[in-house]
Amino acid sequence: MIKRNRRLRERKEIRDLVRETTLSVKDLIFPIFVVEGENIKEEISSLPGTYHYSIDRLEEVVEEVKSSGIRGIILFGLPEHKDSFASSAYDDNGVVQRAIRKIKELHKDLWIITDVCMCQYTNHGHCGIVEDSRIINDKSVEIIAKISVSHARAGADMIAPSDMMDGRVKAIRKALDKEGYESVSIMSYSAKYSSAFYGPFREAAHSTPQFGDRKTYQMDPGNIKEAMREIEGDIEEGADIIMVKPALSYLDIIRWAKDRFDYPIAAYSVSGEYALIKAAAEKGLVDEKAIALEMLLSIKRAGADIIITYYALQAAEWIKEDF
Ligand code: PBG
Repeated sequence: MIKRNRRLRERKEIRDLVRETTLSVKDLIFPIFVVEGENIKEEISSLPGTYHYSIDRLEEVVEEVKSSGIRGIILFGLPEHKDSFASSAYDDNGVVQRAIRKIKELHKDLWIITDVCMCQYTNHGHCGIVEDSRIINDKSVEIIAKISVSHARAGADMIAPSDMMDGRVKAIRKALDKEGYESVSIMSYSAKYSSAFYGPFREAAHSTPQFGDRKTYQMDPGNIKEAMREIEGDIEEGADIIMVKPALSYLDIIRWAKDRFDYPIAAYSVSGEYALIKAAAEKGLVDEKAIALEMLLSIKRAGADIIITYYALQAAEWIKEDF
């Protein structure tokens, strides 16, 4: 007798019933880029369908997020002023801080996560303090903690450090607790690889390093065990959610993390992943909806509980239709 596996593929009804992995709007986080200035909603050329918003124009996108059913957003700020120590990143009147306050006014239930890093705010574009062309860990961590407290003071629900300095989660936790923000949580970019998939983001966020690369702090794409050490360390230091980034080329890392750690796992489907699909779809080479949903489903299947994706708004619609 042969095993007839095709019986459970006979019709959509049964396929839906036996599907092992599902994708829900509740899994998704939408990234929003906020810029200084007024009346700005400008498409980001490297990320078609994604926009720069000035604070006075945030209402529109916040409404879209609200009606989509998406629970959370992650904010990225583009400041007017850059310097060597990222001072506009911890300015209580900085672009992200004002955006948080505005969004809280517009939609108090939205879960607001902030990306905490220095690269958009430094004139050299690195994620830390630079001395003699080296990125100095502990001085950077002090600033990262300061930025986090400033975001919490503005009303952020969750802090997401993406700098990859050693010891930053511990420093952030300590600083938040000291200032009375013990309920503000940390989603750490724990296993963040030095990846060419960030290219379109750096154009979008004006954060391309002006010299060298990020290989002395972001991880080597060849490594699994190192990712496990990073994640373990972040959990010990107080991370509430751990993240793997990018997602698509790192599905194995997501699965490893899922099997080893009993913590929620976020995966960041980064700018390059989005841009590749957009470019291929524009050329008519692929079916955008089908391929985007298949990609997101595969990230879930690998073990992610949460997916950060520029497709979040579109995917929320597509999922509603029937997927
Ligand atoms: C800031 C940061 C980056 C991304 C998220 N936070 C860029 C980088 O590390 O160079 C990448 C996001 C994406 O590519 O979508 N450090």
